[in-house]
Amino acid sequence: MCGIIGYVGSEPVVPLLFAGLKRLEYRGYDSSGIAILEREKMTLFRRVGKVEQLEEEVLPHQLTARIGIGHTRWATHGVPTEENAHPHLDCRGKIAVIHNGIIENFLDLKERLTARGHRFRSQTDTEVLAHLIEEHDDGDLLAAVAAAAREAKGAFALAVLSEDDPERIIVARRGSPLVLGKGKSGTFACSDVPAIAGEASQLFFLADDELAELTAQGFHAFNLEGEEVKRPLQEMTMNPLAIQKGGYKHFMLKEIHEQPRAVGETLYEKLEAGRSTINLSGLKKIDMNFDRVYLIACGTAYHAGLTAEYLWERVLPVPIQAVIASEFRLREMHITPRTLVVAVSQSGETLDTLMAVRHAKEKGATVIALINSSNSAIERESDGVVYTRAGIEIGVAATKTFSAQVAALALLGLFLAKRCGAISDETLKEELAGLTLLPGQITQLLAREEAIASLAERFYNATDFLFLARGPLYPIALEGALKLKEISYIHAEGYPAGEMKHGPIALIDEQMPVVILLSHQIAYDKVLGNMQEVKARKGIVIALTDRPDDPILPKLADHTIALPAATPICLPILYTIPMQLLAYHIAVLRGTDVDQPRNLAKTVTVE
Ligand code: F6R
Repeated sequence: MCGIIGYVGSEPVVPLLFAGLKRLEYRGYDSSGIAILEREKMTLFRRVGKVEQLEEEVLPHQLTARIGIGHTRWATHGVPTEENAHPHLDCRGKIAVIHNGIIENFLDLKERLTARGHRFRSQTDTEVLAHLIEEHDDGDLLAAVAAAAREAKGAFALAVLSEDDPERIIVARRGSPLVLGKGKSGTFACSDVPAIAGEASQLFFLADDELAELTAQGFHAFNLEGEEVKRPLQEMTMNPLAIQKGGYKHFMLKEIHEQPRAVGETLYEKLEAGRSTINLSGLKKIDMNFDRVYLIACGTAYHAGLTAEYLWERVLPVPIQAVIASEFRLREMHITPRTLVVAVSQSGETLDTLMAVRHAKEKGATVIALINSSNSAIERESDGVVYTRAGIEIGVAATKTFSAQVAALALLGLFLAKRCGAISDETLKEELAGLTLLPGQITQLLAREEAIASLAERFYNATDFLFLARGPLYPIALEGALKLKEISYIHAEGYPAGEMKHGPIALIDEQMPVVILLSHQIAYDKVLGNMQEVKARKGIVIALTDRPDDPILPKLADHTIALPAATPICLPILYTIPMQLLAYHIAVLRGTDVDQPRNLAKTVTVE
């Protein structure tokens, strides 16, 4: 939530801040702002709306500053207004602060600072930091930020610029991500690597309770006690081309089409030559003596976890349960040192998932992180890691990272089963043979985009959708409904098909499109029965089926999308693809902001 960037160096700062902010916009996009030292004077621009709108306002000023900070916001405290947009200033207008995270004790701090005469202009938690730093500022900005960081409770990644200290930017972090970068022209700090891809060549990931001072020559990092922290720098490996649309109208469409590669790379790097042995090098330290498994995650990643619950219970001899991360700590889960927890997260920064990981670790569980972005908090706090190789995902709605998660989870389940001696070599070989066909099968499905786009034309004005499925396709029905809700704002619900008669059937009339995920390998006759029930109530049936030539289908389905034949382990990923395309084309026809849907942010770092 919220993206921050800072730069000090020999180049004009304004274009670099805007380039970075646009790449961070997936983290929040309700308002944005920059603070620069233009001829050593603090100069501030803030605006409600997209970064592009702020840029249009700022560029005509032809600013030449070479130091500055910028922020793109996802509102937590205070509605999106210019006053609540970052940067926030101290009373004198000399210190500017941008922040990602939540200052939990901001009310106490605000009361104390107000009593000492500080005047607040916004409803944000962040503004207390500007005044707190002012309060501690006796000429050493680094020491003032360290003192403020010691007093602040909660999560923060912050960057501070001061008119009285015009050559450096001070940054600090606890809980929210912050990466420093060194490039030819100067020094950067930002929430996420893509913001500085192509600009910085070396990276340094700040850890919790560390600060750094950035100058045009480089940076020094310290702990809160003021001791210098040294760690080796990492090479920047991100190609700036990966963060361009590459000819597609939206990032989401590009990412949907990248799925054969995303799934392929996720699978193949974990398979040894001959593709009959799984090698997960990030799990060397994991004790396989577990008697229970929890999969914890949020949103789309939870749907991947729930899919794994269904896939894994076919092969693992222990109870398995997927749990929404924000609920995990509220329940009396049975966590012991023999519990294995798998935290599924694209970003590795989702706070609900991170807190659930901490809770599980406190109770002695072993935690495996299954993530897409390396160097994340969840990875750092886990005992082992499995990466998805989807590459950076910029569209806020997860697509390729979901299919890569399901692919990696399918392999992880087989790997665990093999380690527990619960699967024969022959069955393992058959399962792997099926999985390796996935990239080709996804490509086949993507070629049916035109047919799905025509369906979208027929239904884009619908007000509600139902998605029904059974068994391991049920989580995919949930995911289909979530995708549609997120980007088209159409109300949609996913249900186990057998549950329809217990309530949702009341919704069905001649206006209601019902997407039914039908596979001859999963309770085929029962799902056909559910289709009959929908038709009997005049609902409109859209069937996704791997038996498209079944003569009964024309009687039961108004529209049919054919899926390729595949082994059961592949079905969840394959059924996802047409639903992503359907949601995408419906959203385009409704004219919504597909890549940055309203109210959402890609990385949710609040609880
Ligand atoms: C939906 C979506 C979200 C995320 C969720 C978890 O399209 O993207 O529901 O899946 O916020 O995010 P990660 O996977 O980063 O933990």
